[in-house]
Amino acid sequence: MKYGAFDDKTREYRIDTPATPLPWINYLGNDGFFSLISNTGGGYSFFRDAKLRRITRYRYNNAGPDDGGRRYYIREGGEIWSPGFLPCRTPLDRYQCRHGLGYTVLEGEKNGLAASLTCFVPLGEACEINRLTLHNRTGSPKNIQLFSAVEWCLWNAPDDAQNFQRNYNTGEVEIDGSVLYHKTEYRERRNHYAFFSVNAPVSGFDTDREAFLGRFGGWDAPAAVIEGKSRNSVASGWSPIASHSLELTLAPGESRTFLFVLGYCENPEEDKWEQRGVINKAPARAMISRFSTEEQVRAALDALKDYWDSLLGRFQIESGDERLDRMVNIWNQYQCMVTFNLSRSASYFESGTGRGMGFRDSCQDLLGFVHLVPDRARQRILDIASIQFEDGSTWHQYQPLTRRGNADAGTGFNDDPLWLIACAAAYLRETGDSSILREQVPFDSNPNHTQSLFEHLRRSFRYILTHLGPHGLPLIGRADWNDCLNLNCFSDEPGESFQTCANFESGKAESVFIAAMFVKYGREYAEICRRWGNAEETEKALSAANEMEQVVLRSGWDGEWFLRAYDAFGGKVGSRECEEGQIYIEPQGFCVLAGIGLKEGYAKTALESVKKQLTTKFGTCLLTPCYTSYHKELGEISSYPPGFKENGGIFCHNNPWVSIAETVAGDPEEAFEIYRRTCPAYLEELSDIHRTEPYVYSQMIAGMESTRFGEAKNSWLTGTAAWTFVNVSQYILGIRPGFDGLELWPCLPAFLPGYRAVRLFRGTEYRVSVKRTGGFSIRADGQPVEGHLIPPAPGKSVREIEVTV
Ligand code: GLC
Ligand code: GLC
Repeated sequence: MKYGAFDDKTREYRIDTPATPLPWINYLGNDGFFSLISNTGGGYSFFRDAKLRRITRYRYNNAGPDDGGRRYYIREGGEIWSPGFLPCRTPLDRYQCRHGLGYTVLEGEKNGLAASLTCFVPLGEACEINRLTLHNRTGSPKNIQLFSAVEWCLWNAPDDAQNFQRNYNTGEVEIDGSVLYHKTEYRERRNHYAFFSVNAPVSGFDTDREAFLGRFGGWDAPAAVIEGKSRNSVASGWSPIASHSLELTLAPGESRTFLFVLGYCENPEEDKWEQRGVINKAPARAMISRFSTEEQVRAALDALKDYWDSLLGRFQIESGDERLDRMVNIWNQYQCMVTFNLSRSASYFESGTGRGMGFRDSCQDLLGFVHLVPDRARQRILDIASIQFEDGSTWHQYQPLTRRGNADAGTGFNDDPLWLIACAAAYLRETGDSSILREQVPFDSNPNHTQSLFEHLRRSFRYILTHLGPHGLPLIGRADWNDCLNLNCFSDEPGESFQTCANFESGKAESVFIAAMFVKYGREYAEICRRWGNAEETEKALSAANEMEQVVLRSGWDGEWFLRAYDAFGGKVGSRECEEGQIYIEPQGFCVLAGIGLKEGYAKTALESVKKQLTTKFGTCLLTPCYTSYHKELGEISSYPPGFKENGGIFCHNNPWVSIAETVAGDPEEAFEIYRRTCPAYLEELSDIHRTEPYVYSQMIAGMESTRFGEAKNSWLTGTAAWTFVNVSQYILGIRPGFDGLELWPCLPAFLPGYRAVRLFRGTEYRVSVKRTGGFSIRADGQPVEGHLIPPAPGKSVREIEVTV
């Protein structure tokens, strides 16, 4: 069942009912100010850091799961309703939500009055604009009252939800005509405030929640709105809010537009006050004046559209399959930018108060956005590398505000160092900018202790080599990519973090997955050394990677698939000898994509086993059979009920590894099938089962052993976005950045006769046309090319590339 439809021309997803299975959301904002917005107008806003600078309040895990956000109430003849259905829940005569790139439009109609609300964050501005147009479609005049409302969060989101003995006393506001200011804690150490304004005179306002809602009122029916009368309340302590009321009469056919601005401002320390106790409003006034006319707002919205056009214009295809095109051209790249901006901080599943930027997460996200914003990718790599330690290991997370390693999450995730090589290599392939290797980068954020990025990569590589276990495989540490396979944790304590405790450092638990990464990224590192380092290091790296390949073949093969690991006692994990958890997806995908076992025939066998044992109509499960009881020696993985999350869920992130592996092993049909099974646009008709947004990937879909098989969770902030984009763009379509230039390796399923693409690469526009004729050839600007690499033609701004396959 579908709840809406894609509109590829406008690059929007249109939703036809407020009653989507879950709130279906969108993101507004690109750098400082961010908002989440659902198809009913729910969500919240924050500045830069969802934990420490939360602007509006949101209650996670609430009954009525989509509270919060920008709220609008229209009151006509005693009836009240909201343009986006919530918070009023009054049935509408017409409803539509359109999520576009960086903006959302909610349209509601009731009794011949149409409301259209456009929400977006203008480029480079710390505010959200809400443009609300009311249109009288009837033949009689209408007398209308319009109420707005936002609920302020007291900046620090966890404290806001906990520290009530203090927080019920700190709330402070100022009121200046149509501008309602929130200034809690400004009197002491904060130099920032927020405001909510409208570009028209108000007939009343409220800033105190209780006054507005009434003793028993909720957001769906605030007393002030029900009675049609603001209380003009001035909050002092308790819960400050901002609500305007406006009165208007619309003649038949008349429309009227209001511009609301939800803004965030900072003042220099010495310029905080206008007068004693009165905040300096100059930056707010300036911001409001930039968005006080419809022309200004239209221009800002156009600028936002141009921004997305030029970003997405860097990679566009026409394949004849509209679902493939819309994912590649629009939604997958869009999601890659959102994960670049938000990492794993704020979604409807991530509270914005937990994790900062993950080391491995951020490195992998970069694989999906490096072609879109290479300069920002460069800075991101340097930021990430600066939380590494001298021995090559690293903090597992860092805080975006301080850019320092996060002691709560600790260290010791032994896959981390190799992801740094992966993302540096991706950057070098995309840009050719080897100057990044010479950048001086701190260890553990200490500016007095730096080495070149190249040296950081060397230490990443060395770290693995100096931490090998009894079989010569890399030690797993606290966990590798699979956060929940905690082989040294042995936890008995309820609530103890599986990932940061290590009650039994065996010095023995080994990971076949890290071994595969070492083969893949060790060879990348060797390439980097060959070009920009020294011959001796190149040889050393290559032979270490080759040696590791042998170790995997010797000690990492289980007969029909690759083993997952050895536990703390040297027992096998992911083996047919195990009672549960006999086969895991990660080593099958990663070993084969690293080229391990291709010659020996192991690769094909492993992929066959994946097909037989792990593949379902909704995607490939992480493992089978699922663990049915808690295994202390395995950790968190066995804490989930069967079929959820890492315990045999369809963890979408690693499905593309298997798809890539299929392209490497030469099966384009299965490669595409794997891509298709978890690709949201192809699942649109299953929205009632899948339940999350059909325009973005989710982290997990419940696996075959779950009672909720096929149901997705944790949409938006997942490494799936980056890896599926790498898969479809570089391996299936085969447009692959190489160190020496663009390479073409299409691996197309039979139903695709070819495709056309435009790819901006190192300042040149490549116009690629691929046709299936039965034989491989490339012509670049009419000239035949040997092999897969298109030799660069300096000075040419456009290249015509014809490929046959
Ligand atoms: C989550 C984490 C990621 C981890 C994955 C598998 O998505 O963000 O770091 O690799 O789970 O456990
Ligand atoms: C849990 C989740 C995993 C995630 C981790 C992050 O273990 O199962 O997916 O990566 O938390 O801390």
